[in-house]
Amino acid sequence: MRRFGTQGPVNPQEHYVVSRSEEIADYIKRVEQGKYVVLFAPRQTGKTTFFQDALAALVAGSASVEQTINYFPIQLNFDVCKNLTLPTFYEYLYEQMRGEIEAVFQRRRYVPPETLRGFLEGTTLTNHLSMMTFFKRFARFLEAEHDGQQVVLVIDEFDGIPQVALSDFLHTLRHIYISGKPRCPHSVGIIGVKSIAQLNYDRSISPFNIQDEFHLPNFTLEQVQELLGQYTDEVGQPFASEVIASIHKQTAGQPVLVNRFAQILTEELDIPKTEPITMTHFSKAHAQLLEEDNVHFTHLLTNIKKDSRFESILMRIMAREGGVVFNIFNDTIKELVTYGVIKEAPNGMCKILNPIYLYRIRKTFKPKA
Ligand SMILES: Nc1ncnc2c1ncn2[C@@H]1O[C@H](COP(=O)(O)OP(=O)(O)OP(=O)(O)O)[C@@H](O)[C@H]1O
Ligand SMILES: [Mg+2]
Repeated sequence: MRRFGTQGPVNPQEHYVVSRSEEIADYIKRVEQGKYVVLFAPRQTGKTTFFQDALAALVAGSASVEQTINYFPIQLNFDVCKNLTLPTFYEYLYEQMRGEIEAVFQRRRYVPPETLRGFLEGTTLTNHLSMMTFFKRFARFLEAEHDGQQVVLVIDEFDGIPQVALSDFLHTLRHIYISGKPRCPHSVGIIGVKSIAQLNYDRSISPFNIQDEFHLPNFTLEQVQELLGQYTDEVGQPFASEVIASIHKQTAGQPVLVNRFAQILTEELDIPKTEPITMTHFSKAHAQLLEEDNVHFTHLLTNIKKDSRFESILMRIMAREGGVVFNIFNDTIKELVTYGVIKEAPNGMCKILNPIYLYRIRKTFKPKA
């Protein structure tokens, strides 16, 4: 039996998952056009899951987009790179790239031919220039031996790039991009929490102006229905439609909170599987979620306590009268958006992302009696 996942990326073998097919089709269109895409979004909003699914669909040619090109995916992750020196960073980058390239050949059941092995073993990356040369040579190799497959590079946890490497790394990608097609990488995906402007403390890449911004929205009501419906199809236990609507409303579709709600309802409240899940159950789950400690809330609360300006602006946003006009050029507002704490309401004011966050933030800053 599958489960609702709340720790890290989810996959359809072990978990119930929202297929995000429209967003995947949108991304694949951009890859077809050879775009260099950036996705900056708060923690636990489904970034890693999305790119895993999108690359799988891209390689299988299974999305609803007509694909004209065959792709060679390379997925990297800069999570543990923050304090690496430049040469160590490039050494590690190459180890990851090499592992990925070998894995793709293995999945495709090609034993890496001698030429590939020789090529991979004979390469050392030490800086951005050798990386550029490597991409050129790899493109030539694919051109000659593998009917010109195009490299799609995706870098997760991009915020982890060492500060010393950032500027040259991005300039190199920009250089490759503007040198025209065919280019290697054909498409790049950069994924992180902080945008490049926010990472670029010395403002040395002004700006990485080739980027195509991608947005990964929180789940719609239909997507919450899709997710919970998979459980009902498998187990036979229905959710009252009011419950589904309430979960969506309380979480505003925040992916991990939706899953956490479902987890409490299906695994922790001991509701007999023969009974439907009703609003009485929902209220219990809601009360539990509001008070519990979990990694997601720890992140949220650590972020809002980072800077004393956050408390005062959040108090004003939460006040019954007044409020704060949403202005993304205000640094404090921008940071709270980056952390996924606030968003712009339809009336142009700042709004806390969802009612559950609102409760937790109020409680955190409540004046001591
Ligand atoms: N397509 C999906 N279907 C169902 N749940 C999802 C989906 N995508 C994300 N989630 C939920 O969000 C959680 C976090 O997903 P994921 O690790 O992909 O996000 P992330 O943005 O990469 O997080 P982080 O910033 O911590 O790396 C999952 O554990 C799951 O609860
Ligand atoms: Mg991730």
